[in-house]
Formats: sequence, C-alpha cells, structure tokens
Amino acid sequence: MANLVNIEQYQLRINQFLENKLNQLPVNDAKLLEAMRYGLLIGGKRMRPYLAYISGEMLGASHDDIDGIAAALECIHAYSLLHDDLPAMDDDDLRRGKPTCHKAFDEATAILAGDSLQTLAFDILANHPFSHEIADKRIIFIQQLVNASGYQGMCGGQALDLSATGKNIELSALEKLHSLKTGALLQASVLMAAECAINVSKDDKASLAQYAQNIGLAYQVRDDIIDITSSEEELGKPKGSDIAANKSTYPALLGLQGAQEKAQYLYQQALQALATLPYNSQALSNFATFIIKRTH
Ligand code: IPE
Ligand code: IPE
Ligand code: MG
Ligand code: MG
Ligand code: MG
Repeated sequence: MANLVNIEQYQLRINQFLENKLNQLPVNDAKLLEAMRYGLLIGGKRMRPYLAYISGEMLGASHDDIDGIAAALECIHAYSLLHDDLPAMDDDDLRRGKPTCHKAFDEATAILAGDSLQTLAFDILANHPFSHEIADKRIIFIQQLVNASGYQGMCGGQALDLSATGKNIELSALEKLHSLKTGALLQASVLMAAECAINVSKDDKASLAQYAQNIGLAYQVRDDIIDITSSEEELGKPKGSDIAANKSTYPALLGLQGAQEKAQYLYQQALQALATLPYNSQALSNFATFIIKRTH
C-alpha cells in the first residue's frame, strides 16, 4: 500500500475514531460488545474510509465531517463481512488472519454483532456533529448509505451471489451482482464524501460517480483474482474459497487472463473519468492503480 497517499495517517485516524465509538457504548452484553470489537477493530485495510478521506480532501471537505461518513461506511463493511462468512453464506473460517467471528464466538453472536454494527452506522450518521454548512445533508447521507448497503445495494448483491452459486450466469448478470455486492459501498464512499464538500458541480459529481462505479466493480474483480493467485497468508482469508464453493466469479466465467483484462479495462475507464475533473486527482488515481494490483 506504499503508493497510497497518506494511508497510514488515515488508517490511524479512522481506527481511533471507531475505537472511541465502541468505548462510548455501555456494556450491556459484554460478549456481544467484544464480538463487535473483534469484527470492527481487528485488521482490515480501511479502504472505504480511505476512499472517503481522499475524495473529501480533493474536494475541500473537512476531515471532521468525513470522519462520520468514513466510520459509518466501515461499520457497514464490517457487518457485511461478519455475515458473509457465516455457514449460511460463504462458510469461511478465516478472516483478516484470524478465526471468523462465528468461530471465535458463536453464530448467534456473529449475527447480532453484524446487526449491531449495521445500526451503529446509522447511529453515527444520525448523531455525528457535522459542520454547520452541511448539517442539512444528514438525511441525504442516510439515503445514500441505505441505497448502497440494503436491498438496492450490498444485500441485494449478496442475494444474487448466493442464487448464482453453482450456476452459469451471463456476464451482464455477474457485473450486476458484483456492482451491487461490493461496488455500491465503494461508490458511496466517494459520493458521500462529495456531499460533504460545497460547490461540487453536477458534472464533476457525475465524473466522480463514473470513477467510483468502475473502481467499485474492479475491487471485486480483483478480489476474485486474488482468491486464486494469492496465498492464505497474504489474504488473511482462505485461498480458493470461491472455487471450493462453486461461486460465479470473473475468473470462473472469463478465465484468469480475461478477468485481468476486465480489471484493466475498468481501470482505464476510471482514469478517463478522473481526467475530466478540475481537481488534483492523484490520490484517487493511485487508489485505482492499487486496486488492480493489490495482492491482499
Ligand atoms: C473484502 O473487502 C470483501 C469485499 C467486498 C471484496 P476488503 O478487501 O476491503 O477487506 P478488509 O476490510 O481489508 O479486510
Ligand atoms: C464479499 O464478497 C462481498 C460482501 C459484501 C461482503 P466475497 O465473499 O468475495 O468477500 P470475501 O472474499 O469473503 O472477503
Ligand atoms: Mg461472499
Ligand atoms: Mg466471502
Ligand atoms: Mg472474495
């Protein structure tokens, strides 16, 4: 992650923010809170927060405002992973180099920890002290996160993923599945950050949406590739999990090289969208490069 501008600084920032959030919660059920901590704070690249911070920085948004957006996005992401690993879904035992939450605790606790992290995301959006200039955006943020994470977004994509398992599906159906299950939240990371800035033109928001859509899809295409090409040690999750589960993936449909070409094409599209922006988009461009090259 060496080429990601200010990555350590932003990872530290979001980790501290999230830790503070959990520390502020009263201890009702200690085990549930421990499982939330396990799912949210241990490991993770923090790519959605990072994307929100660099987008916000480029557009002149305040870091304190982005904290609320970034934290809500990461809570949704962490919840999606807790549920994705459950026996009823991907049935995986390893995540971020550690036993998955349902292995470290139990299934009911992992389900409830996921549920609690999901609602914590909306708690944060509803209560974050956003600056005066964007205080009227709170409902918009909530709508954006609902669309990206719920039926119209991640959950809908996860359902398409499950129903496509063990089947041959069209490329267009695979693209939709990937765009929803993973692309939507990454796209929201950019577009929610854009709402934190004032005076971003409609055209520039449209270009940012184009960029985000392409890298969002590329993120999952690359995830499918590294499921095959990286080691378990590097991934921190099981290698070959998709093949073992007979998942519909880009490599399964197009072959490894076809999947790589698809990632490359999406990368070029993303860069083209950035080129139209009247801002210094170097950090976003580096992020796109990172996505298609990452090995974990
Ligand atoms: C993994 O996401 C699941 C996908 C949506 C592809 P990340 O690769 O962002 O996982 P962490 O948060 O760094 O563990
Ligand atoms: C995950 O897709 C998408 C989510 C919404 C969590 P995967 O099932 O491929 O993610 P990993 O490989 O388990 O991280
Ligand atoms: Mg899955
Ligand atoms: Mg999975
Ligand atoms: Mg995967």
